[in-house]
Amino acid sequence: MSRQQIVAGNWKLNGSKALINAFNEHFTHTDIPNVSIMLFVPALYAEAVDKSAFCVGVQNISEHSSGAHTGELSVAMLNDLGIKYTLVGHSERRQMYGDSNAVVAKKVSVALDADITPILCVGESLETRDAGQVNEFIQAQLDSVIELVGIAGLSRCVVAYEPIWAIGTGHTATPEQAQAVHAFIRQYIASKDAMSAQQISILYGGSVNAQTASDLFAQPDIDGGLVGGASLQQADFLTICQAANQRG
Ligand code: PGA
Repeated sequence: MSRQQIVAGNWKLNGSKALINAFNEHFTHTDIPNVSIMLFVPALYAEAVDKSAFCVGVQNISEHSSGAHTGELSVAMLNDLGIKYTLVGHSERRQMYGDSNAVVAKKVSVALDADITPILCVGESLETRDAGQVNEFIQAQLDSVIELVGIAGLSRCVVAYEPIWAIGTGHTATPEQAQAVHAFIRQYIASKDAMSAQQISILYGGSVNAQTASDLFAQPDIDGGLVGGASLQQADFLTICQAANQRG
C-alpha cells in the first residue's frame, strides 16, 4: 500500500510577505503530483499562502478553545480561515514553551476534534540517544497521545520523527539511523493496530536538505520530510519536494 508522501516546510520564526509571494509564484506551476506540500508559516502569514499550491498550516495551537489566553490561537480560528493542519509538539515548543507530553496530547485531541490534522513531532536528545533509550523515549511520547485519543486518533495524525540533535545543526541523521526509528514507530503502532501502521505517514526532520533528501526518502518507512532551514530557500525546497515525488 502506498502511503501519502508529504514534504512540510517549517518556517519557524522566519519569513516575510515577500518570501511568501515568491514561494506562491515559484510553486504554483510546478508539477509534483505525488506529494502533499505543506507550509507551516508564522500564523500571521497563513492567509497569504496560495492554497492551490500548498496545504497551509500553523506551527502551534492552544489546547484551550477561547478566553483569557493572550497570544494564543484556537482551532476554531483555524477552521474559520480554512486552515486544516498544525504542528504539535515540535521540540522547540517542548523545550522552550513547556509543551509537556500531557499538553501535546491535549493539543492533538483538540485538533482532531476540530478536524484539523496534527503533525505530531517526536524525537530524542543526544543524551537520550547516547544512553541507548531512543525507543523508550519515543514510545512514551506516543503513549501519552494514544492514552488520550486512542490508536484511532493517532492514526489520523501525521508523525514527524525529529531527533533534536539533528535539528538546525547540519548533522542529518543517516538514512539508516532514521529508518531504524521510523521502523520502530511503525511497529509500535502495528502492535496496536496493523491497518493504522500501514496507512500513517511518518516524516523525518532534522537538517534535511537538497543533498540528503533522496537517500532519506528512499527508506521504506520514511514517507517524506519536515524541513526547517532548507524550506526557506525556494530552489532547495523544490528539490526536496521532487525527491519525495520520485518515491511517491
Ligand atoms: P531543520 O529544522 O531542517 O532546520 O533542521 C527541522 C525542524 O525543526 O522542523
